[in-house]
Amino acid sequence: MKMVCAVIRPEMFGSVKAALEADGVYGMTVTEVMGRGAQRGIALKFRGKVMPVELIPKVKIEMVVSDADVEKVIGIIRANGRTGKPGDGRIFVLSVESIYRVRTDQEEAEEA
Ligand SMILES: Nc1ncnc2c1ncn2[C@@H]1O[C@H](COP(=O)(O)OP(=O)(O)OP(=O)(O)O)[C@@H](O)[C@H]1O
Ligand SMILES: [Mg+2]
Repeated sequence: MKMVCAVIRPEMFGSVKAALEADGVYGMTVTEVMGRGAQRGIALKFRGKVMPVELIPKVKIEMVVSDADVEKVIGIIRANGRTGKPGDGRIFVLSVESIYRVRTDQEEAEEA
């Protein structure tokens, strides 16, 4: 199992979620976050002055998926989260050691 952790533009979240859903990916944790990437934020011009904005609002989606589904999920996020401009986001993939459901006593099976 892997955790796909995607940090994307808030305005793209709706279409990313809909596309994941259309492909049968439902389980997710979603958090509104602040972040920055390679450009270290953005420079806003306001009344002739340049104001640096170091942290920009993003949406973080965390999804635990089977190894076999990782490429599919990444493809969906890329296809539906992209504007082509800097700031479209990043996707991180982490290994997941084990999964438990609180309701039951068993550890989840590998492909659960
Ligand atoms: N190295 C990093 N570690 C953790 N989070 C990061 C890292 N880089 C980017 N992020 C997260 O991803 C968000 C979006 O980053 P962003 O899309 O600007 O990445 P980038 O690498 O600068 O790519 P681009 O050149 O397309 O802007 C950031 O706001 C931040 O939350
Ligand atoms: Mg950037």
